[in-house]
Amino acid sequence: MPITFAGRFAHAQRWAGPLAAKLQPLIGRAVAPPAVRNALDGVWLGAPLHPALTDVPVGSWTAALMLDGAAAVSRDEDLAGAADRVLAVGTLAALPAAVSGLNDLRDLIGESRQVAMVHALLNVLGLSFTTASLAYRRAGRRRLGRGLSATGFLISSSAAHLGGKLSFGLGIRVNRTMGQFAPDAFVPVLDESELEGGALRQVDVNGVSVLLARSQSGRVCALAGTCTHLGGPLAEGSRDGDTVTCPWHGSRFDLCSGAVQQGPAVFAQPRLEARVRDGKVEVGLPGEGGTELPELTTFTQAADGSG
Ligand code: FES
Repeated sequence: MPITFAGRFAHAQRWAGPLAAKLQPLIGRAVAPPAVRNALDGVWLGAPLHPALTDVPVGSWTAALMLDGAAAVSRDEDLAGAADRVLAVGTLAALPAAVSGLNDLRDLIGESRQVAMVHALLNVLGLSFTTASLAYRRAGRRRLGRGLSATGFLISSSAAHLGGKLSFGLGIRVNRTMGQFAPDAFVPVLDESELEGGALRQVDVNGVSVLLARSQSGRVCALAGTCTHLGGPLAEGSRDGDTVTCPWHGSRFDLCSGAVQQGPAVFAQPRLEARVRDGKVEVGLPGEGGTELPELTTFTQAADGSG
């Protein structure tokens, strides 16, 4: 059971999950073109887009609250005008943040879907207060406008807290291969013959799932077998040329470099070294000290074509 008020509140809203389930097909259709999905997921950024976009409204509304307080104490009209402007900046910036957040809702299930729906609705409510505040400020009713934006700030802060719970408590948009370690020496895992015919094979190496396949050019490639998006089993996915598509939500990765070719995953699949010795496929990360599976070396190792 969550210990914060917002967490308990979200946990109690049992109707929110079914409501989100009804919205998910609509969201899926709205973001159907791959270019739109990749843009909103953050594939181009190499990081989830939604958390980056939310910094602008949260920061602007915090600044507006501070400026409102200073203006009320000092009766400085310049400070009051500055508060209005940063409040407007935050309100405008909330729109792309909301769109990217709705996009993130489309693949969630269970508790994370319910919490995400409450997070979204609280954000809509907070944004409504902030928008009303701007209207009253324009009409010269600054005192009421300040009260409305302060209320909106409290609501949006609760929503932001739930966003943190989604990331840090429920692992949404977190790289699901973090914390996995590869052996620092080559370990035999499979007969070479088992990689014939474009097969995708999953093996367990020191408790870490590893995907093995032979590329079209004959190279043996090894990636983390757990999808970086939400942990789908890549070996149960489909292969097209030298790419593998996750069976859960359709993320597509380069089979040898691990690079993301299609979201919703935004983090590359970590890559291990692989070789064939005496008819056995061996994998590991020799020379890296039994390291945690690295995301960025995925790209540098792939670039030099080693392996
Ligand atoms: S788990 Fe979502 S695309 Fe793989």
